[in-house]
Amino acid sequence: MQDHEILAWLREEDGARVRELWQAADAVRAEVVGPQVHLRGLIEISNYCCRECAYCGLRAPARDVARYRMTADEILAAARQAVSFGYGTVVMQAGEDYGITREALAGTIRRIKAETPLAVTLSMGERPEEDLAAWREAGADRYLLRFETSDAELYRRIHPTPPGRAHRDRIAVLPVLRKLGYEVGSGVMIGTPGQTVASLARDIALFRALDLDMIGEGPFIAHPDTPLGGGAPRTAPEGEQVPDSARMTCSVLALTRLVCPEANIPSTTALATVDPIAGHEQGLRCGANVVMPNLTPGRYRALYSIYPDKEGIHDDPQVFHERLLARLHALGREPGAGPGNRIRRTAAG
Ligand code: 5AD
Repeated sequence: MQDHEILAWLREEDGARVRELWQAADAVRAEVVGPQVHLRGLIEISNYCCRECAYCGLRAPARDVARYRMTADEILAAARQAVSFGYGTVVMQAGEDYGITREALAGTIRRIKAETPLAVTLSMGERPEEDLAAWREAGADRYLLRFETSDAELYRRIHPTPPGRAHRDRIAVLPVLRKLGYEVGSGVMIGTPGQTVASLARDIALFRALDLDMIGEGPFIAHPDTPLGGGAPRTAPEGEQVPDSARMTCSVLALTRLVCPEANIPSTTALATVDPIAGHEQGLRCGANVVMPNLTPGRYRALYSIYPDKEGIHDDPQVFHERLLARLHALGREPGAGPGNRIRRTAAG
C-alpha cells in the first residue's frame, strides 16, 4: 500500500468502504498470523513518573495521584498468576521511575526468567542505554516505547524534554533497542489534539519503515488533570484533526495490519475504554491479534490512571480471563500458545 492510499483510507467516510478495509485487514491477519490471540499479562509495577507528558494522568506534576511501586515479591505473584492462566508473556509497565533502579529490575527479571517460562516485555520509558542493556542481559525479551506521533512539532508540545537532558525523539531510541536484541514495539495515540490526518498517515508508513515487531495504538482519552484534558485546546483545523473515536482506531489498526502483516498488534485497553461493549472484539476483527489482560493487584489498579475510567479497573483477573476466553471462542479465535514472538514469513511464503 502506498502512502497516499493510507491517507485516502484515513479520510474515507463511506461506512461500507471502511468495513471493506477492516475485512481486508482481518483476512490478512487470518492468513499471516492465524486465529491465535496472544495474551500478555500486564503488570503496572509503578505509577511514579519524572516526565511531564501533556496527555498523561501520571505526569510528575499530578500531585493528587497516590504513588505506588510494587515489590519484587508482588511482581512475582502476578507473574505466577499469568502462568496459571496459560499466558506466555508478562509486560512490566511503569512511569519513567528512577526509583526502580537498574539492578532492582534486573533482579526481578532474572527471578521471572528462572522461576517461570514467561517471555518478559518491558515498558519503562526512556531509560539510559546502560539500563536497557542490563535488563536485556537479565533476560528481558521485548521493549515497548510508543513514539506517540511522528510530527516533531506536536511531539515537542505534548512530550517536553526535562531541563538538562538532551532532546531525543523516542523514534531515535528504537534502533538502540533493536541493537540490544530486543523485539521492538512502538505505536501512537489516535486523536491527540493537534494530530492531523496527514501526520497519522506518516506514522503508519513509519511503522513499516521501522519494521516494528509490535505496534500498540489506542484512542487519545482526555484526562482532566492534564494540559490536554480541558476541552480541546490547540486542535488541528477542521477536517484535519484526527477523531479520537473507536471507528478511527479500528481503521488505523486495519491499515497497520495491512502495512505490517507480521506484527503483533494488540486490541488495546484504550479502545475497550471508549467502546466498553465491543472494544476488544472490534479491535480483534480489524487486524489485532493480541490482548493484554491486566494483572496489576486490585489495590493498585485504580492508581495507574493514565486516563480516566480505564476499562477493567475493577475486574478480577480470573473473571476477566474467563470472559475473554468465551469472547475469543465466539469470534472463532483461540488463545495463543507459547511466547507469541513476532513471526517472520520466509521470502517464499
Ligand atoms: N489517552 C490515551 N492513551 C494514553 N497514553 C498515555 N496517556 C494517554 C491518554 N490520556 C498512552 C501513551 C503511552 C501509553 C503507555 O499509554 O501512548 O505510550
